[in-house]
Amino acid sequence: MGEPLEFVKTGIGGLDAMLFGGIPKENQVILSGGPGAGKTLLAFEFLYRNAKEGNPGIFFTFEEDPKKIIHNAKSAFGNFDDIDELIAEGKLVINGRDMTEGIMDKFDDASYEFGRIITDIERQIVAKKATRAVLDSSSALELLIKDPMVYRKSMWSLVANFRRLGVTTILTSELQSPDRSKLVFKPEHFIFDGMMVMYLSGEEAKRVSALEIVKMRGYKHSFTTAPYEITPDGFNVLSVENIGD
Ligand SMILES: Nc1ncnc2c1ncn2[C@@H]1O[C@H](COP(=O)(O)OP(=O)(O)OP(=O)(O)O)[C@@H](O)[C@H]1O
Ligand SMILES: [Mg+2]
Repeated sequence: MGEPLEFVKTGIGGLDAMLFGGIPKENQVILSGGPGAGKTLLAFEFLYRNAKEGNPGIFFTFEEDPKKIIHNAKSAFGNFDDIDELIAEGKLVINGRDMTEGIMDKFDDASYEFGRIITDIERQIVAKKATRAVLDSSSALELLIKDPMVYRKSMWSLVANFRRLGVTTILTSELQSPDRSKLVFKPEHFIFDGMMVMYLSGEEAKRVSALEIVKMRGYKHSFTTAPYEITPDGFNVLSVENIGD
């Protein structure tokens, strides 16, 4: 009965167990979190792990210089010694778009500009035969489109296009508060197939980072919030599903 379930493994320690296999293939997933939660790094590791398995991916940054993304990843993940190799082989592509480059001044053309950016990204996905993508982050896209209805429509078409391209995507998104009880949902949280949230709770020395899968449409997933740590070997999500593995 039905088609066999197909998952794209994130390759991130503990996370695939929480996802009961991985991200459903061709799903569009939001990764939300407060500042410094590790959104960029987790999204990077997803592409890195998949590139190592021979599945090409493209990381689009709207916020930082691609060089900085690579530098930060190498600094956090000291034992990922084949990043340059994967980039040279074209399995890991890090591209950027400087959003300050005159775009923000032309608000009249903003939604047109949004469309152009997305079309450009789609072209690159096709050209590189990428099956995984990361967009980091939605904030720059949000800045382009002031009208909430137009923003929602644009997000709808982004999701539809990426799905049509057959790419499995993580879009990072900022949360105003890293606190679970103050979680405020944005339009993209409803539009995307899946949503994961990274929280920071507690204070200073007692600070705890934890990850929750809020939704993964049509699929079973963990409902437990799991602490995580960033190590030189990558993220380590201490999920209950992973105990004993
Ligand atoms: N070498 C390292 N070892 C351990 N943790 C690190 C290391 N480098 C960075 N980090 C952690 O990663 C966090 C930054 O990760 P990342 O840039 O992915 O966060 P982010 O959620 O994308 O932040 P922003 O909202 O600013 O974009 C830092 O706040 C720090 O806690
Ligand atoms: Mg970031």
